Amino acid sequence: MTAMSRIDGTKITDVEHLSPRQRRRLATTLAKICILRPIQDMRSESIFHGDPHAGNLAYNFEGKRPKIIFYDWGMLGRLQRLERFTMALLTLGLILGNAKAVFYAADMITKGQISSSKAMSAKIKAIIEEAITNLKGPDMGVLSIIEFLFEKFTYQGVIFSADLLLYEKALVTLKGVLADIDPTFNRDDYMVWAAITTFLDDVIRLRLLKLVMKDIWALYRHSLFLFLDIQKIIFGFVRDVAVLGKKLPRVFSSNGSQKSCKI
Ligand SMILES: Nc1ncnc2c1ncn2[C@@H]1O[C@H](COP(=O)(O)OP(=O)(O)O)[C@@H](O)[C@H]1O
Ligand SMILES: [Mg+2]
Repeated sequence: MTAMSRIDGTKITDVEHLSPRQRRRLATTLAKICILRPIQDMRSESIFHGDPHAGNLAYNFEGKRPKIIFYDWGMLGRLQRLERFTMALLTLGLILGNAKAVFYAADMITKGQISSSKAMSAKIKAIIEEAITNLKGPDMGVLSIIEFLFEKFTYQGVIFSADLLLYEKALVTLKGVLADIDPTFNRDDYMVWAAITTFLDDVIRLRLLKLVMKDIWALYRHSLFLFLDIQKIIFGFVRDVAVLGKKLPRVFSSNGSQKSCKI
């Protein structure tokens, strides 16, 4: 038997009595904890809730600030530094239409499974082109495209780590919960903002790029060509992201959340 202290809260989707502003704050806080934080902290392994459906979540307001309560930590996920970096690279590569960055992100996520086979590389490149084209259309946002990629890659025999699949599944679950809390909250815009913030905060300041390059070197030790190509792509990419970051609307940081992201 496991004993725990009782933490009372309102079910996360019981929001009818809240003002639109409170609903927005609640959605933003939930996205911050479940989407941004797991990919943001580059220093150590990060943990996340692997099953954030409405029955496992509650909230309280402390003044203006929502506090999220997570029940049921049975499904706990952990992401490694390189997995988090590559999730950000994948997201931004899609947004920027940079097929090479997406390819290397996918390859690093799968621990080099793709680049080790020419046939697989060709198929994955075609899927990535399709994904970038789909993203330009009106129907699919970036998170739906990531879901699309994961599914197509799996059909090609690519094996993802259990934790990464859990994170991706948690994103899908959150889609419904966030829509219930605040239908005007755009999960895709948030994911893009989260990925850019991760890059701008941690990578562009070069505090952690060295560590990431070390991880990448460990993965591509067998091929100096691949390693140097990836390095070139990442450095060019960081510049593109910086330009994109400057153009970014401050929607998600309007309530000061950009600073409080680091709580
Ligand atoms: N520590 C707790 N304090 C207060 N309520 C809790 C606590 N843990 C669980 N609950 C309540 O019980 C419900 C089910 O708990 P959960 O841990 O998700 O169990 P399971 O999903 O295995 O049935 C939650 O939605 C919540 O309402
Ligand atoms: Mg539960």
